[in-house]
Amino acid sequence: MSQPHILLLGAPGAGKGTQSSRIVEAFDVEHVTTGDALRANKDMETEYGTPRSFMEAGELVPDPVVNAIVEEALTSADGFVLDGYPRNLEQAEELDGMTDLDLVAYLNVAEEELVERLTGRRVCSECGTNFHIKFNQPAVQGVCDECGGDLIQRDDDTEETVRERLRVFRENTEPVIEFYRERGQLVEIDGEGTPDEVWGKLKTAIEAAQ
Ligand code: AP5
Ligand code: MG
Ligand code: ZN
Repeated sequence: MSQPHILLLGAPGAGKGTQSSRIVEAFDVEHVTTGDALRANKDMETEYGTPRSFMEAGELVPDPVVNAIVEEALTSADGFVLDGYPRNLEQAEELDGMTDLDLVAYLNVAEEELVERLTGRRVCSECGTNFHIKFNQPAVQGVCDECGGDLIQRDDDTEETVRERLRVFRENTEPVIEFYRERGQLVEIDGEGTPDEVWGKLKTAIEAAQ
């Protein structure tokens, strides 16, 4: 069986990164994520400026920059879980021309819960593993369970920037969710349980789509 092509949609903080790691392990696919790719290249000069200026303000990085990242990553991936793209209808149309999808899953989480998840998130500076000061604590405070690296707060996880990211999501990305819903492709998953509970539902949906 060929490896699955999975699209994971959800607001900032819905758990896309957290669940993607589990998908990668269970289904042996590549994690294709525009957020991580952009963070690794924050000061890359493009004709639109650097990604940093957009990201720290909570705004979208211009489409040509992210389209190129995804196109290149998908070319070399057999199966994948795509996280953080598409974020507007133009990107969704672009993706349509690049690949087919076996599953479009939407992790649905209420807005106040998202704010708490994001402002409490801590990320490993070495390997990128996600933690949370309340919901997903490391064994030793400030230290990554996976690799021993330092845990840091992302620049865009301040309350003010989080609110702007959520506004950008409502304006640009909710129409993408409607786009897949209208096509009958969307599988909606309640993203509000524990990470294990959400994973149970997501895994079932992936198995059903294969
Ligand atoms: P990106 O990095 O994609 O950020 P995002 O979409 O805002 O999503 P997050 O990574 O913040 O959240 P997540 O859903 O991965 O949640 P996580 O698993 O970490 O994008 C960043 C920026 O890059 C954008 O603002 C934009 O500027 C730019 N960009 C990226 N893609 C772009 C594109 N396509 N076009 C244009 N610009 C683009 O979980 C969050 C927290 O909650 C963690 O602390 C976690 O431990 C905890 N948690 C997870 N699950 C649960 C649970 N079930 N219960 C309790 N806590 C939980
Ligand atoms: Mg993420
Ligand atoms: Zn680590």
